[in-house]
Formats: sequence, C-alpha cells, structure tokens
Amino acid sequence: MRRVYLDNGSTSFPKAPGVGKTMMEFIEDVGCNVSRGGYNISYSLAERILNAREKLCELFNFDKVSNVIFTPNVTYSLNFLIAGLLKPGDHVLTTSMEHNAVARPIEEAKNRGIEVSIANCNDKGELDLCHLESLIQSNTKAVVIQHGSNVSGTLIAVEKVASICEKYDIFFILDAAQTAGVFPLDMKKMKIDGLAFTGHKGLLGPQGIGGFIIEDKLADSITPIIHGGTGSISDSLVMPDFLPDKFEPGTLNIPGILGLSTALDYILDKGIDNIRKIELRLTDIFLEGIKQRNDIKIIGLDTIEGRCPIVSLDFIYRDNAELAFKLDDEYGIMTRCGLHCAPMAHKTLGTFPKGTVRFAFGHFNTEEEIYYAIDSIQKILDS
Ligand SMILES: Cc1ncc(COP(=O)(O)O)c(C=O)c1O
Repeated sequence: MRRVYLDNGSTSFPKAPGVGKTMMEFIEDVGCNVSRGGYNISYSLAERILNAREKLCELFNFDKVSNVIFTPNVTYSLNFLIAGLLKPGDHVLTTSMEHNAVARPIEEAKNRGIEVSIANCNDKGELDLCHLESLIQSNTKAVVIQHGSNVSGTLIAVEKVASICEKYDIFFILDAAQTAGVFPLDMKKMKIDGLAFTGHKGLLGPQGIGGFIIEDKLADSITPIIHGGTGSISDSLVMPDFLPDKFEPGTLNIPGILGLSTALDYILDKGIDNIRKIELRLTDIFLEGIKQRNDIKIIGLDTIEGRCPIVSLDFIYRDNAELAFKLDDEYGIMTRCGLHCAPMAHKTLGTFPKGTVRFAFGHFNTEEEIYYAIDSIQKILDS
C-alpha cells in the first residue's frame, strides 16, 4: 500500500537530504566529544558546532553566536526559560491556545508563588491582543506564547505582541515549534527576547535536538535549572555565567547538532519563502477540497490567511479516531488524532474532549498526495 505522511506537525518526514548521512558519518568516523578533548578532531568538531550556531543566527537574524543554546527540544528550552526566569512574586502571561510545553511549566510555576494570567483567544484560535494588554500588572515579567498552533494552525501576530512587551518592558518568549523553518522569524525586527525552537519539525533535523536563542538581558535574568559539567572553568562548583555554557551542562547531542546543521544548509539554500509557499499551497488545496462537505468541520480559520500548514478536522457525525484509523489502515495516510498535547487549545476551539484529526503538511508532500487525501476522506465518509 502507498504511504502518505501527513503528520509533519508532530515531526517532519522525510528529513532534509543528507541529515542521516551526516549523523552516521559522525558516529562511525569521528565519535569524539566537544570541549572535552585536547586533540585536533575535537577542536575541529567545536568549529562544526559553532558553524551550526552561526546558521541558526542567520536563520533567525541574530548577531551573537554564543547566545544560541542547544537543548534536546523546544520543551526543554521553554522549561529553561520559564522555570529559570520566574521567581516567587512574579507574574507571567500566556494564552488559552498553548501546547503543554508552555502550559505545564507555567502551571508548575504557580506552585512556586508565581502569578499566572491567561489571555483569551477566540474559537478560531486568534489572540485577543486587547485582553492580553489588559492583563499586564506591575510585576509582569514575561509573555510566553506560541507562534503557530499545533491544533488549528492559527498564527499569532508576533510583532503586535512584541510591541506590547516593549511598551511595558516585559520579556517576550516565543515558542516557535511549529513555525521555525517555515515562517520568517527575525529576532531583531520582531523584538523577541527568547526564541525556543525544536530541530525535528520544520527545521527538518533529527529528533532530540532543539534549543533557544536569547538576548543578553534575558539571559542575565535567568538562573540555570540544570547544573553540571561544561568543560569550562572546571575548578568552580557553580555554573559558568557566560553563554552558551551557562545553559549547556552535560554532553551535547553532537550527532543531532550536526544533523540539524545539514538540515539548516538545505533550508537556507532552498529559502524559507519557497518552503512556505509550497506548504501553504498544499494547505489551500486541502482546505478547498474539504470545505465542500457539510459533514466535516474545519477547526480554526478556513483560509490560509493567518495559518501555518496544519489543518484540524472534526468529522461531525463520525468518530474521529475511526476516521484516522481508516485513513491509515485502508489508504496509508498518516495523521494524528486526539488532543495533540494541547487541551487548553481544544477548550478554546470547542473541540474538547473529542479532539480532532490533524493533517500537517510538509513541503516534501505533493499536490497529488493532497488530492489523494481529500478523495480518501470522501470515500470513507460516503461508505
Ligand atoms: C506549539 C508546540 N510547542 C511545543 C511543542 C513540543 O515540541 P517538542 O516535543 O519537540 O519539545 C510542540 C510539538 O508538537 C508544539 O507543536
């Protein structure tokens, strides 16, 4: 049976050309550690890691390579930023559309005496900016927010949120899990203080590598939440206060960084605009094909304006899990069904607790695959 992968919101597949080869070559032919060996191949490996940081700076328009921190994924990055920044008595703002990668560390912060407010989003997932602004207090430390929803694909207006943060001198932390590699993210222009990314979605790298890029002022306000060896100032029992070491304890995922670096070469060469155009074209075809039916509810916005290439559907008269199962079992179409680690978003969108079937497109998908998916959905519904 043919296989059609439409679960790119969970992780992208295939990965960028060469990612697997780079990782395999490192493991089989190099294999050493970085910043912990006094020999040439360790030094040249350090250069390759630096090079990966440089590419991330290029992608997100940032000027300090040392401020690119590697972590296992965006979840770890958000924990570093949220738990490390917020101290008892602080107030933090987020939205009703967040993934648990933001929602859970913020919920946990409440146990440490941190006040939390949640700005409303409407049933399309769009953020109410006036409500967000009205929730700001004198002790508000940060706004932590996702760029693109992994449930409805709805985007938030990053620059408008950034202006509010700037007006009140509040840190702006962005969860770019669903948009990094697909939408232009310019840290300087968009005034983002902390940008958290994951390597295995739109960045087309392997699982287990992610990170964050951080402005100095935010980095100075954050206490490391994980402590350990960094290969630097080893005579001290406290973490170095310089970057990236301050937030990079323990051995890095070197194969992951090198794999991501190869993926970044591909993205920078292909161009984000080209990637996005293809993905949104596929999303558009899908939305147009599905719109015709009155037994399917498109969750969120029904055009590609204000969206990333993710579409959640509710099959009104059918069991969503059954639909997802049949798509896979009978047509080889891989989707994801359920709450997608974002219960708050489903409450906002009116799809809790039933959840949705999510179709998430990547630029390696073809138009023919999208027509095949539309046709397969119709056949299941009409059978
Ligand atoms: C918006 C958003 N934030 C965070 C995450 C968590 O990503 P990771 O599992 O790579 O940490 C996801 C993954 O689905 C996501 O969609």
